[in-house]
Amino acid sequence: MCGIVGYIGHREAYPIIIKGLQRLEYRGYDSAGIVLYDEAGTKLAKTKGKVEDLKKKAEDTISTTGKLGLGHTRWATHGVPNDTNSHPHYSNSGNLCIIHNGIIENYESIKKELIKRGYTFTSDTDTEVLVNLIEEVKKTEDVKLGKAVQIALNQVVGAYAIAVFDVNKPDEIVVAKLGSPLAIGIGENEYFVASDASPFIEYTNNAVYLEDEEMAIIRLGKEIKLRKIKDDAIAYPNILELQLNIEEIEKGGYDHFMLKEIYEQPRAIQDTYRGRLLADQGIIRMAGIDQNLEKFLKADRIIIVACGTSWHAGLVAEYIFEDLARIPVEVEYASEFRYRNPVITEKDVLIAISQSGETADTLAAIKMAKERGAFVFGVCNVVGSSIARETHAGAYTHAGPEIGVASTKAFTTQITILSLIALKLAKEKGVMSDSKFHEYLTQLENVPAKVERALKSNDAIEEIAAVYKDSPNCLYLGRGFNFPVALEGALKLKEISYIHAEGYPAAEMKHGPIALIDEQMPVVVIATKQGHYEKVVSNIQEIKSRKGKIIAVVFEGDKVVKEIADHVIEVPETEEFLSPLLTTIPLQLLSYHIALMRGCNVDQPRNLAKSVTVE
Ligand code: F6R
Repeated sequence: MCGIVGYIGHREAYPIIIKGLQRLEYRGYDSAGIVLYDEAGTKLAKTKGKVEDLKKKAEDTISTTGKLGLGHTRWATHGVPNDTNSHPHYSNSGNLCIIHNGIIENYESIKKELIKRGYTFTSDTDTEVLVNLIEEVKKTEDVKLGKAVQIALNQVVGAYAIAVFDVNKPDEIVVAKLGSPLAIGIGENEYFVASDASPFIEYTNNAVYLEDEEMAIIRLGKEIKLRKIKDDAIAYPNILELQLNIEEIEKGGYDHFMLKEIYEQPRAIQDTYRGRLLADQGIIRMAGIDQNLEKFLKADRIIIVACGTSWHAGLVAEYIFEDLARIPVEVEYASEFRYRNPVITEKDVLIAISQSGETADTLAAIKMAKERGAFVFGVCNVVGSSIARETHAGAYTHAGPEIGVASTKAFTTQITILSLIALKLAKEKGVMSDSKFHEYLTQLENVPAKVERALKSNDAIEEIAAVYKDSPNCLYLGRGFNFPVALEGALKLKEISYIHAEGYPAAEMKHGPIALIDEQMPVVVIATKQGHYEKVVSNIQEIKSRKGKIIAVVFEGDKVVKEIADHVIEVPETEEFLSPLLTTIPLQLLSYHIALMRGCNVDQPRNLAKSVTVE
């Protein structure tokens, strides 16, 4: 779970790699490193800390010239984050240099073997073992670098995206992939290598995404050669034309990516349903569903697998699918599902939800469900991601790049797409009247303007944040469609402000959490005037009578809750199943402001990474 960048061509590699690493910091940011090559040889700089720290160190300690280079931003797996464990790593001879994203699971046995043969190791990493294994193979088998990489990778167990070069042959970079993403950008007499396309998007739109168990030999002046790692068979590069745009991945005037992404939600939701929701014609058009309609209509049940925020979107979808389309749904943490020998049949449809499309547990759950005969549908944001490619069919959310580590627009766009699917299936199954269907389509079309209105509470939310920024704990309560929103609100607060927060279904409070309530405890309650409104109002009374502090999220015009809550945040009214798209907004803003006031790094919270490609 790291970011890798490589360059070989006619430009200076240093600025390309530094900027590329900054764009990939969402993948990990506990240490970083860079190696550059020019006629004088290789120059290496590595440091604990962020890419900004690396930049300072590199500019102070090495000459930053060279038209070949590799860079790495790390999320530690083996070995603490320090300078020595940072990548790139040299082989013992100093001839080979590698960057690696992933884990080599059998590195200890390989390391023991290499030590017996006289190799020494300076770091605690599995990566240093891998580069020395490649060196050993190259030496003993007397083969070129590409072949040595292929033979070595057949001896390792684990996951990797690697880039390696030989200082004696600096016109070539060898890359390989299994389980971690790797994209190659193809320019005019230049090549780029990266964990995703963002580091090279201003230089070229042409890219090849390596498949698992593929490697490529990238040589200046030659076309890239793709091979299968297992048997050395030739593979043919599928060159894609990318749609990504550079403005989309920069902050665009906001102080943080998270804030930018919160404010992008009206546009992102619209982009999600654009071309799919044709309200005036009363149609929902989604190729992935249209082409597989029978599978969905005949399914015994839908199983949703995901992690973190995407799992919360899955929980909202459970309520929506069951209520609107009358299809039984189970929502599973991918990490639990994959290891508990679940009963899966050919009559199950599995929906995997993932912003990044790279989450290791979700990917593994998909593979297992496919092996057991289920039809697997992906809901991803990142185009061409591993999950998007591994699923039988799917639908992209089109939210645009989400860089802030805390997921915001991914959540609302996932709910949008899942609502579209539920509505479509309800219509096709004949369990929803035409008039209801039309009404709901119009309501969904009105959501972006309502989100825009909800965002106007930002200043009021900032004032509430100032009151509670020092609270050590916070409770979030919601019912029905808004129970998962309570979970999501709590997750947002804890991950970026480090305040302990828990989400509960409001009625569960009296089964335990109510013991926590005292005058110090802020309780965020989603109390929209629908469904279980009166019951939630009673829950608020119960908290008030124990002196808890209530921050209530209500629909505009609410009078009852206003009378009893300490703070009220209004969002525009909508259909109950669409309300999470609105009630989520103030919770995102609340956690953003609290984190900022506590001096936390909002975009890069400690210990986290944007895409969790390890178990
Ligand atoms: C929370 C967050 C994580 C992710 C989770 C799944 O803000 O971002 O909980 O939601 O790691 O990631 P994806 O959706 O990429 O599979």
